[in-house]
Order: sequence, then structure tokens, then C-alpha cells
Amino acid sequence: MKHIYLEEIKKLESEPKIVNIFSEKEIKMIQELYETLTYTVFNKKQNVKKKGWIQNINKELDKIYFEKIKDVLGDFKMDTLKSKSGDDYFGLFHESFSPLPLHVDSGFDEEAIIYKQLITPLSPIGDTVIFKNKWYGKSTSFTIDPEELKFKPKPEQNERSSDHLGKEDFDKGIHKENLTHIDINNLKGLKVQMIYKWKVGETLIVDRTHIHSSSSRINEKKLGLTTFTKK
Ligand SMILES: [Fe+2]
Repeated sequence: MKHIYLEEIKKLESEPKIVNIFSEKEIKMIQELYETLTYTVFNKKQNVKKKGWIQNINKELDKIYFEKIKDVLGDFKMDTLKSKSGDDYFGLFHESFSPLPLHVDSGFDEEAIIYKQLITPLSPIGDTVIFKNKWYGKSTSFTIDPEELKFKPKPEQNERSSDHLGKEDFDKGIHKENLTHIDINNLKGLKVQMIYKWKVGETLIVDRTHIHSSSSRINEKKLGLTTFTKK
């Protein structure tokens, strides 16, 4: 699959941006909301636990979150999966215990005009590595493992691909320092756009078409909130 409205998607693209839109009190409210939610996903292989931000548990916070994002993004729609009642999740809390592999969160709907992804760290240690390289197909996990490439995804599961690969070897220094959990040959042709060092109180805003991963620096556990948007 490829996104149909490629031109519209590309027109909306912009440089990654770090903003400080939430106060200390609001971050605390978000962390408290996280505590009250129950787990929606537990991916044993990736060692990630996820909780969806269900609307109407803390209506005041829902409003604050939506309005603050809107101030930065302009008009947008949520695109982060739906809860059992059919309401949009306002984001996914992800608690990871090992570093995330190389992937893109470009969604599963070819008709969607995908827009920005917001990453709000809720624990201080960790990084997100954003590559310059972009992907205009479905949400995909990138691999060079022939067995893994045979994987047939169910609906809403990431595809597997090695079509991201280019010719140029990846920078050995950057690999050693940040990406030892990824085979360096799986990074051929990729260039780093930014290594975002997590800081509680900040929010990273990037195009959903950016290939990204976490860095190999992880310390016990990493907790963050990710929100996906479309136009
Ligand atoms: Fe991601």
C-alpha cells in the first residue's frame, strides 16, 4: 500500500520541532491519568506495554491536551486507534523495557492525510532517533532478517520490509553510541536527522513519515505518550 494523497501529505511536512506546551502540573495530571488506566497491549517480543488514553476519565485534562496541541498543529484529527466504545484514543502511553527497533508509524489507511506524531516523555531517560529518510507506505518495521520478512501482518499490524535500505554504509560512530540494538546493515542508506534526548516537560513533534527508533540507551524503563494525527 502507498498513501494516495501523497502530495497533500508532503505539503504538510516540516522540520522536527520541540515545544514546551505543558506545565509541570499538566504533566503530573497526564502521569496520574496513566496510573488509572489499564493495559491495552503487551508486546512480549518488543517488551512494550501500552495503555490507550481513554477520553472522559479526566475531561478537564482531555480539553487541555487537545487545545494545547491544536495551538501548535492547527486543525487536526486524532489517528491513534479507537477505544472499545469507538472513541479516539488521545494517545498511547508506552512503557518500554528494551529499545524499540527501526520503524515508521505512517498508519494503515491509504486514504488518510497523515500529519504529525507527538512524543511526550514522561520519564527522563531515553532518546528517540529520527532519521531523515521517510516512508509513504503503511506502518512498517524494517528488517533484513529473511525469516522476519516473511511475516504476514494482520489488520493494524506493521508490515515488514527491507525496502528502506540504500547503498551507503551507516556511520559506525553513531551506531556504536546510539543504535547497538539494530544491525548496522539494517541502517544502510539511512541518515540521522536528530537524536532527541528525552526531557520531561517537552514534546517532540515530527512528521509521521519519518523512519525512527529509540536509542539503545535505556535505563530500566522508559515511559512516554505518543499521539498520532491526521488532517
Ligand atoms: Fe514510533
